[in-house]
Amino acid sequence: MLDQLDQLKTQAVTDIAASADENGLEACRVKFLGKKGDLAAASAGMRDIAKEEKASVGQKLNEVRSAITAAIDERSAALTANRDAAALAGIDATLPGKPHPVGTLHPLTQVLDRAVSVLRRMGFALADGPEIETEWHCFDALNTPADHPARNESDTFYFDSGKLLRSHTSTVQIRTMETEPPPLRIIAPGAAFRRDEIDATHLSNFNQLEGLCVDAKGSVTLADLKGTLEYFFHAIFGDDTEVRFRPHFFPFTEPSFEVDLKLVIKGQKPKWVEIAGCGIVDPAVFEAVSQSRGDDLYSPDKVSGFAFGMGLDRLAMILFGLPDLRLLIENDVRFLRQFA
Ligand code: PHE
Repeated sequence: MLDQLDQLKTQAVTDIAASADENGLEACRVKFLGKKGDLAAASAGMRDIAKEEKASVGQKLNEVRSAITAAIDERSAALTANRDAAALAGIDATLPGKPHPVGTLHPLTQVLDRAVSVLRRMGFALADGPEIETEWHCFDALNTPADHPARNESDTFYFDSGKLLRSHTSTVQIRTMETEPPPLRIIAPGAAFRRDEIDATHLSNFNQLEGLCVDAKGSVTLADLKGTLEYFFHAIFGDDTEVRFRPHFFPFTEPSFEVDLKLVIKGQKPKWVEIAGCGIVDPAVFEAVSQSRGDDLYSPDKVSGFAFGMGLDRLAMILFGLPDLRLLIENDVRFLRQFA
């Protein structure tokens, strides 16, 4: 019996070492160690063995089982190593690898991050609203009469449903006041759309950053608006940057201003670039909000506020000295990499 077991071991070890691949090795495992395998058959023979021999045969069985298991593990490791070596044949693993290009933040994203962080320091919280808007949120609630040129088909993208692509982010002023009680201090960065001819300073899909501050009547003044925007532009562009407020008209603010920044590009004559619109919220806007809410929290007798909306693309243009806004949407990595 002991001899038989030794023979079984020798045969198993030889077969295992000779197995050509994982399938062959698995066949060996089943043949020798499987439930119906040779070793199981030998164990079954224990029943017929004389008592005195049981201990030594049992020991031998264990020895053979471990030897076969070890042989299988060894062969399996060798087969894996062979397979790895074959896969790497012809490849010089010591050569330097191909570097993966690492992306960078788009200049617009960088400007937005900076703008938001400055305004958050001043207590403005982020708000947003839909890009597909109702005429009411985009125009009527913002005191823009039906015959205002901005409402024209030639200026604004309309859907057949009567909805439109918002032509400014001022819609978020209305959206926020409809759902949040005063006081409010919010900023809303987002896309805006106009049927503008695309050129160096105009895109038909551009980005704005809206701001709105509403508090008890009389507590928000033009001085607050000017101070906020001047602080903002100086924080972004440096204290030397010249800022100019020009009287203007917007239906939803009174008085209203346009804000210009002096754009200085190396080798070019400095020029004023219009960067933002702003003003003191027109009481008619608060009336519209009050009607929509059905309460008087925003009654013009109770609140006052200021609002501003600036062009983020223009901000990037000034911050990075870009000669042409179209660079921002062409996604040419030779351009974008310069802002890494
Ligand atoms: N919505 C105006 C525009 O797009 C900007 C603006 C915002 C003006 C808020 C005044 C107050 O031109």
